[in-house]
Amino acid sequence: MIEMTANKPELYRDLARQLAALIAGEPDPIANAANTAAVIYQGLPNLNWAGFYFRNGAELVLGPFQGKPACVRIPIGKGVCGTAAATGATVLVPDVHDFPGHIACDPDSRSELVVPLIEDGSVLGVLDLDSPLPGRFDELDREGCEQLVAVLLVHQRKHPRGKLSSNFDDRARDRR
Ligand code: SME
Repeated sequence: MIEMTANKPELYRDLARQLAALIAGEPDPIANAANTAAVIYQGLPNLNWAGFYFRNGAELVLGPFQGKPACVRIPIGKGVCGTAAATGATVLVPDVHDFPGHIACDPDSRSELVVPLIEDGSVLGVLDLDSPLPGRFDELDREGCEQLVAVLLVHQRKHPRGKLSSNFDDRARDRR
């Protein structure tokens, strides 16, 4: 566990380096998303959940995460995650009680940061971070988490057979 002694940009640079080293050479998008969730959950203080939802049609479906069991399906446009997926923009919620439509998977969550995963203009899913502290996330967290998502997406782009989007297509096919 990295302590929050370093300043935030430095901490996020460190996490980005750790993540790049962990996923280097590995094409599997689920394995890499799982390690991304672990790097974030172990590396950032005061989180109670960190992980992914992946788009499948009009829904987000739960992906690799760390924390308590969570809601499995979220309609695009609903909750904080669905809003980030619908708009393609990061959503930072200082107090979830003030966000209409917030989906409370864990009643302990008080603030939330959701970064969309965007490839070729399409939203593939979202990275979701929850904290039990109100106001836990700021603009530096937004930038830092957007950088971590970029590390993952740039890496997966180099592995066409392990592209996040092709994995979703496979999952969609499985459901037919
Ligand atoms: N709170 C989220 C739901 C996902 S959980 O926090 C893991 C939302 O409102 O979209």
